[in-house]
Amino acid sequence: MKIVNLDPGMPGPGELRIRQTAIGVNFADVHYRRGTAPKHSMAKLPIPFTPGLEGVGFVDAVGDGVTQFAIGDRIAYASASLTIGAYAEVRLFPADRCFILPGDIKDVDAAALLYRAITVQGIIRQCYPVKAGDTILLHAAAGGIGSILSQWAHHLGATVIGTVSSQDKVARAIANGCAHAIVHTEEDFVARTLKITGGRGVDVCFDGVGIAVFLPSLKAIRRYGTMVSFGQASGLVDPIDPIELQHEGLYLTKFSGGTYNEDVAEYQARAADVVQAIQAGVFALGNHLVYPLDEVVHAHDDLENRRTVGSLVLVP
Ligand SMILES: NC(=O)c1ccc[n+]([C@@H]2O[C@H](COP(=O)([O-])OP(=O)(O)OC[C@H]3O[C@@H](n4cnc5c(N)ncnc54)[C@H](OP(=O)(O)O)[C@@H]3O)[C@@H](O)[C@H]2O)c1
Repeated sequence: MKIVNLDPGMPGPGELRIRQTAIGVNFADVHYRRGTAPKHSMAKLPIPFTPGLEGVGFVDAVGDGVTQFAIGDRIAYASASLTIGAYAEVRLFPADRCFILPGDIKDVDAAALLYRAITVQGIIRQCYPVKAGDTILLHAAAGGIGSILSQWAHHLGATVIGTVSSQDKVARAIANGCAHAIVHTEEDFVARTLKITGGRGVDVCFDGVGIAVFLPSLKAIRRYGTMVSFGQASGLVDPIDPIELQHEGLYLTKFSGGTYNEDVAEYQARAADVVQAIQAGVFALGNHLVYPLDEVVHAHDDLENRRTVGSLVLVP
């Protein structure tokens, strides 16, 4: 990646021009950059392109037909894959996918949370509606999604068993609300999960890690429990034979932001739910990794080499 000068021009019909103050960095940006995005949901983009799925900033020009926003409004967005391009000081973006950011939510907190929390909203409210008393197995529990999901599930009254790759991530997983943090490089996470649950297994596994953990995780889920796959930081899961699900009668589903956030009304409802959760104090704020925009290469290097906990934010 390198920084270049590019004039985005004036917004077209239905668009805003946004002067950005904070930009979220997501693992999906790494997939796009490396060209390892899952073939069914994310297009391999022709190079050069501008990565980035979420941002916060001020409206500085309004396109024809936009009535809900005015110049100077402070707004945020978490985009779908067709509208990537957030790594910029100024950009154009569809107005119907933006929303006003309440004044009590800081720019950096919003950029750190929104895309991931909108994803988590779909996962814990729709893929598997988490409720008090549930026991959850969550991989990469100290990561960006992991931090948000564990805090939200803990808030809902679930018991979260988190996995992390090193001892130095344990404290963050526990601070996120995990009742147990398993260092899966040192300990068999399936055996430990079964031990914690008295042999029963968890109600649901949320997996954003993919091939390295997917198949063994099925053995840690209770009879008639659910596996929600939502990512593949370690690589795409191989095709699965339904027989793998038969023994315990498991349910398997795959979350995709492209699907769950395609409909604007559904996306806006998820965003509103997330804003409410932020305002209700569900998430710890101010504990994100912040990089200047021109250190974006450094930010990606840290994220893909597993040196980060929580979310990463670029500041122009
Ligand atoms: N489906 C969707 O629409 C959607 C939306 C948002 C995010 N996602 C997915 O959710 C996952 C988490 O996203 P995030 O942005 O919050 O990232 P993240 O969790 O902050 O970073 C990825 C984490 O995955 C773990 N990991 C395991 N194997 C890895 C490997 N080989 N290389 C790198 N990391 C590895 C690492 O944690 P440990 O070191 O503790 O193992 C790492 O910190 C990603 O797979 C992402 O693509 C999917």
